[in-house]
Parts: sequence; C-alpha cells; structure tokens
Amino acid sequence: MKLSVIGSGHVGLVTGVCFAEKGHEMLCVDHDTEKLARLKKGESPFYEPGMNELLQKHLATGRLKFSGRTEDAVEFGQAIFICVGTPSTPRGKADMTYIEKAAQTIAENLKEYRLVIEKSTVPIQTGERLKRTIARYVKGDAQFDVASNPEFLREGTAIEDTLKPDRVVIGVDSAKAEALLREIYAGFNCPIVVTSVGSAELIKHASNSFLALKITFANWLARLCEASGADVEQVVHGMGLDHRIGRHFLNAGIGYGGSCFPKDVDALAHIAEELRVDASLIRLISDTNKSQLQRFYEKMESELWVLNDKTIAIWGLAFKPNTDDLREAPALRLIDMLKKAGAKLRVHDPVAMPNTRKVHPDLYYARDAIDACAGADALAVCTEWPQYRELDLAKVKASLRVPIVFDGRNCLDRKRAAELNIRLLGIGKGPIGAQ
Ligand SMILES: NC(=O)c1ccc[n+]([C@@H]2O[C@H](COP(=O)([O-])OP(=O)(O)OC[C@H]3O[C@@H](n4cnc5c(N)ncnc54)[C@H](O)[C@@H]3O)[C@@H](O)[C@H]2O)c1
Repeated sequence: MKLSVIGSGHVGLVTGVCFAEKGHEMLCVDHDTEKLARLKKGESPFYEPGMNELLQKHLATGRLKFSGRTEDAVEFGQAIFICVGTPSTPRGKADMTYIEKAAQTIAENLKEYRLVIEKSTVPIQTGERLKRTIARYVKGDAQFDVASNPEFLREGTAIEDTLKPDRVVIGVDSAKAEALLREIYAGFNCPIVVTSVGSAELIKHASNSFLALKITFANWLARLCEASGADVEQVVHGMGLDHRIGRHFLNAGIGYGGSCFPKDVDALAHIAEELRVDASLIRLISDTNKSQLQRFYEKMESELWVLNDKTIAIWGLAFKPNTDDLREAPALRLIDMLKKAGAKLRVHDPVAMPNTRKVHPDLYYARDAIDACAGADALAVCTEWPQYRELDLAKVKASLRVPIVFDGRNCLDRKRAAELNIRLLGIGKGPIGAQ
C-alpha cells in the first residue's frame, strides 16, 4: 500500500523504514531541511542500531522516498501517519502545535479519501480535535477518517520493536479505517487490539506512565533500603519473579529521562485534571523522579565534601544505552549541578558525545571510559552502557586519583569492586569499600 509519514524523526523514520521492509511504498516528509538532506543520502540523523542499513536498503529498492513538502504526504499515501513531536508546554501540558499544523495541511490538500492516523503520543480526545480541525479547514468534500495507532518502540531497539511488536493497537471509529489499518499491519505477526480512538490514545499514555511508575516505585524502595540496610536489587528480584508483577522496569537508579516518560506522565496528569479527575498519583511519579537525581547529587556532595575544584568523571550521557538522544537525560542535569558547584568534568559516552558537545562545549570529552577517569577524584555512572559493565575495574582504579565510584545505575560488579577496595556507592544499597 502507498503510505505517507509526516515527521521523519525517531518515530516517523522508523515507521518509514519498517513499513518499507514489510513491502509498503513509503513517502516520509519532514520540514527540517538539514535532516532531510542527510536522509536522502541514506544517513540517519540519529543513532539507532540497524537504521542506516534499512534506510539505504529501501532508498535502493525505491520503496522509501523523502520530501520536504508536507502537501506531498497528502497526495501520496492512502493513509497518512502523523509522527510529529508533541513536547511539553512549560505547564506540562502536551503541546499540540505540530499536530494541528499537520492537520491543517492535510485538510487544505485533501482531494480524495484519506485515513489520518495519529502515531504521535497525544492526550485522550485529540482524535476528536483532529477531526474537527480537518473538517474546518478542508476545501472540497473529500472524505477522511481519523484513527489512533500509538507507537510503543523503544529507542535503541526501535527497529526490532517495530518489526516484531508485542501488540499493535488501533483505535478506530469506522469499519473502513479498521480494514485499512488491518491491511497495513497484515504482515505483522502479533495481536491486533482494536479499540475506540480515545481508548487507543489512553493506552499509550497509560502504558508510559505505568512503566514510569514501576521505575519510580523501585526508586522509592531504594530510599527505604538505604534507610534500613536492605538491598533494593534483592528486593526487586524477589518481587519481579511474581509474574503478576514482572521484573521489567523495576530498576532503581537516578531516575528516568528521555523524550517520552517525563512529558507523557506530565501530559497524562494534565489531561486528567482538565477532565476533573484527581491526578495526585500521577503527579507523584514525576515529583519523585525529579528528586531522585537530587538525592544522587547530595550523595556525591556528602561523600566528596567539597565539590568545587574536584575533578569528576562521568560515564554515560544519553538518557539510556544504545541511543544518542539527550532529551531529559539525567546526566545532563547532573552536569549542570556539578558545574554550578565548581567541579571539573571529564565525560564519556559511546555515541552521545557529539550531541552533548553542542550544549556543553566546555567539558573534557574523553577518548574512552578509562581516559575519562584519568586523575579524577571520583567517577559517576549515569547510563548503564554494557561496555561499562565489562570494563576491568582494576584499570578504572588505576586511572582514578581516588577510587570512589557512584554507580547511578547499579551496573558495576560490586564483588570485584570490593576485592579491589574501590569505594562504591550504588542506589538502594549500602556503600562498600574503605571510607
Ligand atoms: N522517540 C521515541 O522513543 C518515541 C516512542 C513512542 C512514541 N513517541 C512519540 O512520537 C512522536 C514523535 O516523536 P519523535 O521522537 O519521533 O520526535 P522527533 O522530534 O524526533 O521528530 C519529529 C519530526 O517531525 C518533524 N515535523 C514537525 N512538524 C512537521 C510538519 N508539519 N511537517 C513535516 N515534518 C514535521 C520535525 O522536523 C521532526 O523531525 C511524539 O509524540 C513522541 O512522544 C516517541
């Protein structure tokens, strides 16, 4: 089928290459000319494992094309996926500016039936607003449907997640929309969950908020463990084996970040309050998450006494491994706090250093993780890249000026650290090593 995508960012581009892989003909549009130039050359504007290969493959098969004109999307595809950003406003509400603009462009260029599909994460009732907007701006009498098809991909495993999803959710209010979406997903081997448009919208916000809640619950438990002498990893292991609970996302650390959880949790609280539903449970997720990083900073301050003029190594800048996405990355907030306190920072990340350099040109960008530690008074781990876990801690100790490590992701080998007499301070467990 001929399909269009408006917005060729993380979600739009993954949608484009994955549907091309499934045999559809794709046109992806974006109004960012720099991004577009790279895409047309077969170069992904962001780091995502497997992306460059699929992009180049389908530029060559001719099943994937790019355009800078959003109007082209309306003409090309029988179905149009809206994949534009839905950032937070300063008050935490989802900003619908890009969605509305896309809807207006669709309306103004609508000549024959189109299925307009929200793939961006949007608050419940957006579908109704989209319908109303398109109906207001449409010029002729062309028909359209609006459907919701939320995206559940995770950056870092986005292609695998999209080609082999746990489920596909389609929110529709017409048989024609359902039939088209079923045809689009015919090549996918997973349950298709058909709901109303509003339920599909809510499934996405609710899923992200629930996952954020699991992380936050583990972080709260970590506080209790630190206060009582228990070990949070033992606690979540014991909990997670219960299949009603599950082990995924029950990880204590320095808090969640990224382009989705922080804004989606806030947006869910906001829409609930707009609908006069008490949102204190959801609000607490966000507040507890923010204070988790503050506690980590205070732990560093308490251990190191004076931060001014201390040299601190930071491992991991991206909000999670396998991405160069820095949106709401805890490491960036920590860098701001440490810089303010007068610390000198030596940072490392396997892929996110070029993006970090744009916001913090004044840091020392290390050649590798060991170089980051050279002469440092302490090391803080902010992202659990697998290569950090695998590093020989003897080399880390030899490189540091003082062997103090703050493991913000509980990812380093505590037994090995104890053998080497490294002072290791994790999350939700007592420190090990000499004072
Ligand atoms: N990134 C993720 O992991 C992820 C996962 C699931 C859902 N989502 C949701 O998907 C949506 C998109 O997220 P993203 O991370 O891909 O954002 P992004 O910022 O990477 O990409 C959005 C793109 O849309 C383009 N754009 C905006 N308006 C346009 C228009 N009118 N015409 C053409 N292009 C336009 C922008 O230039 C940008 O390239 C958001 O709602 C997000 O919450 C993201």
